[in-house]
Amino acid sequence: MTMLLHIDASARYGCSDKISHGSHTRRLTARFVKQWISLHPKTKVLYRDVGQDAPPPVTGKWIQAAFTPEHAREDWMKKALSMSDTLVDEILQADLIVAGVPMYNFGPPAQFKAYIDNIVRVGRTFGFDRNRDGEPYWPLLADSGKRLVILSSRGDYGYQLGNRLGDSNHVEASVRTAFAYIGVTDVYEAAIEYDEFADHRLTDSIRQAERNVDDLVSMLGTHAI
Ligand SMILES: Cc1cc2nc3c(=O)[nH]c(=O)nc-3n(C[C@H](O)[C@H](O)[C@H](O)COP(=O)(O)O)c2cc1C
Repeated sequence: MTMLLHIDASARYGCSDKISHGSHTRRLTARFVKQWISLHPKTKVLYRDVGQDAPPPVTGKWIQAAFTPEHAREDWMKKALSMSDTLVDEILQADLIVAGVPMYNFGPPAQFKAYIDNIVRVGRTFGFDRNRDGEPYWPLLADSGKRLVILSSRGDYGYQLGNRLGDSNHVEASVRTAFAYIGVTDVYEAAIEYDEFADHRLTDSIRQAERNVDDLVSMLGTHAI
């Protein structure tokens, strides 16, 4: 049975095909999940909406708690890490992670960055030992078979590598880097562009992104657990 973790990070409510001013990334993630379930009905879905309910940003207490060995943690430390523990538990259970990550000022929304800061956890998703031979940091989720799908949207266009604004797109690259650090390197993408133009270019881009989502569902489904 596949465990699918569905994450949305848009600050906008609802999907753009359901309500006016709705979110394109929510539309793409909902489409992916709906189609996936119709093909693999035994899939269990976990849902995390960081766009509407953002994890708390990392604090000094959080850092102190995370770097204190688990057996030595005081109650306040356990409390400081409780949301992070929940989010890490979800990632550990997931076989397939489908994340809707809009572009806000060339990177992911702050809500999604807070999510990343909570799941990149020493001793839980990455290891650290300054006395270790070779690399002092290592990914704890390597070889776990986890796959990540990043579904994005942006107002302007030409953000693919080598295109007009390719060098300004820090969404997919930063998400890929953080997930690779914890060991998730099997990553797929689709994105909508032209949201701000709101004309046929947006409509075409949505159609293309939806086709890309459909292709991803069938391609990843051939390896479904
Ligand atoms: C705070 C904010 C910052 C944005 N920054 C950018 C940007 O840097 N580049 C861009 O092309 N579009 C930008 N946009 C447009 C969004 O990327 C676009 O509306 C996208 O569709 C948002 O995702 P959503 O539809 O899932 O909410 C921004 C929108 C907001 C609300």
